[in-house]
Formats: sequence, structure tokens, C-alpha cells
Amino acid sequence: MEQQSLAGKVAFITGAARGQGRSHAVELARRGARILALDICDDIASVPYALATKSDLDQTVAEVEAVGGEIVAVKGDVRETADVAAAVDRCVEAFGVPDIVVANAGINLQRGQEPDAQVAFIDTIMVNLVGVWNTVHAIAPLMVERDQGGSIVLISSTNGLTGRGGDGSGAVTGYTASKHGVVGIMRSLMIWLAPHGIRINTIHPAGVPTAMVSHAEMQAWFAGNPAGHTMGNAMPVPMLDPIDISRAVLYLVEESGRHITGITLPVDAGFTGK
Ligand SMILES: NC(=O)c1ccc[n+]([C@@H]2O[C@H](COP(=O)([O-])OP(=O)(O)OC[C@H]3O[C@@H](n4cnc5c(N)ncnc54)[C@H](O)[C@@H]3O)[C@@H](O)[C@H]2O)c1
Repeated sequence: MEQQSLAGKVAFITGAARGQGRSHAVELARRGARILALDICDDIASVPYALATKSDLDQTVAEVEAVGGEIVAVKGDVRETADVAAAVDRCVEAFGVPDIVVANAGINLQRGQEPDAQVAFIDTIMVNLVGVWNTVHAIAPLMVERDQGGSIVLISSTNGLTGRGGDGSGAVTGYTASKHGVVGIMRSLMIWLAPHGIRINTIHPAGVPTAMVSHAEMQAWFAGNPAGHTMGNAMPVPMLDPIDISRAVLYLVEESGRHITGITLPVDAGFTGK
């Protein structure tokens, strides 16, 4: 039995139906946090791989319950303020105001042949940047009003710290711009939230073999961008595991992070340091 370091805490996690978001939900629950899991459970037309399904979200529920956790799962789109508000209401009803937010939902439209660069750019910005803002904007004022502190983690990317892999496509430019934009959200809100004891930080993972990157169109992108192959990590670690990112989330939200706010934390096996 893990130490219940987050007993009594409530965590609101977006993009929690699979991949890294599911791992964050299970690891936070294992330490006693009650979980609100939000996911679109639907596809977006411009995204060249399937997004999560309702059965993926059910699997997150099962895995959280298997570690003894409590969870409410909600289908909703972070681009839609009404969906985010409904999920926040469900969270407050079931568990109370979140102590922890992990804004993790994201898309990546890199592919072989881009059908429409502007659509790729805008759709990516809408999910990865506007969606993160919608999430934090809906919850942070409640945390401030409650006046008991909190910890917000925004999942960026190594693409939030470097332009490596840039190829002029709407997809890569949009992904890199959105992930840098998340840092801007974090830095601005840090100033507002710090006096209230609410911390906000970004995490910048290198490649993790989730459904976002393990698909044929991503392989086609690498095939068409030989420079992409130079994007490897400095350490002899081709990809990270979702648990590596979850451990960084835990570091920031647990007691270990109590005086850490406003940082950009790479979890990248040296990718951005090269
Ligand atoms: N996989 C990588 O190599 C990698 C590297 C760095 C950063 N990231 C970031 O990590 C985060 C998690 O990605 P992942 O690797 O687990 O991929 P993933 O595709 O498995 O997970 C993303 C989740 O977000 C959900 N989602 C997408 N759009 C949504 C929307 N509009 N509203 C609500 N939910 C939505 C998806 O359904 C999916 O469950 C993303 O922000 C991603 O950009 C991933």
C-alpha cells in the first residue's frame, strides 16, 4: 500500500481516458486523491489518429478503482467552455473544489501530407492552448475563493521549449506554438495565483509511445522529414514511459513541490539540453 500522501485531495485531469492522462489519474488515486477525469471520447476530423473512446474512459475508471480510488468520469471537449463548466460542476458536487489540476488533453496533427495547414494550426491551438486556458480559467477562481491553496500542472512538451523538428507545416508550427503558449499561461497565472498559495508549473515531456505518436501518419512524417530523426534524446532512452511523467506530476503536486511555482520542468532524457 502506497503512502496516502494525497488523501483528502481532489484532482481534475483532462485527457484522462488513456495514455499519460490515465497514468496520472491512477498514480494520483493510488496516493489517495479523488479524481475527476474529463475526456472528449470522440474524434476530431483533422486529427490523423483516433482519439480516446468511452471504453477507454471506462478503463481509466476501472484502473483507478482497482487501486482503491474514487473517480467521476465525464465526456467533454476542453474547447467548449460549457463542457468544462459541466465537468467542474460534477467535480464540485461529487468531491468539492479541485486541489490539483492536470491540464493534459492534447492533439498532434503531424502527418505525411498535410491537407490544410491553417486548419491544422488552428485546431491544434484550440485544443492545446485554448483548451488549457478554458480548464484553468474555470477552476483557478474557485481555488482562489476557497483560499486553501492548490497545485496546477500544465502538460506542455519539449516543443514548448525548442523549435526542433520545425518543418513549416501548420501542424508542427501549431503544436510548437501551443506548447510554448502554455508556458505563457503558466507564467502569467503564476503571478496572480502565488499570493493565494496556488502553484502552477509546466512539464515538458520528450516522446512517450502513446496513441498520439504510435500511428502510421507519424511514421510518414518522419519518413518525409529526415531531420526529424536527429531529434533523439541525449540519454540512450528512445522514449519515456507515461509513469515517468506521472512521477514528475507527483513531485510537483505533493509536499515535495510545496515551494515550487512558475517553473518549466523538462522530463526529457536530455532532449532540450542537447
Ligand atoms: N506522446 C508524446 O510523445 C508527448 C510528448 C510530449 C508531450 N505530450 C503531451 O502529453 C499530453 C498527453 O498526450 P498522450 O501522449 O497521452 O496522448 P493521447 O492521445 O493518448 O492522450 C491525449 C488525450 O487527450 C484527449 N483529448 C484530445 N482532445 C481533447 C479535447 N478537445 N477535449 C478533451 N480531451 C481531449 C484524447 O482523447 C486522449 O485521451 C498531451 O498534451 C500531449 O501533447 C505528449
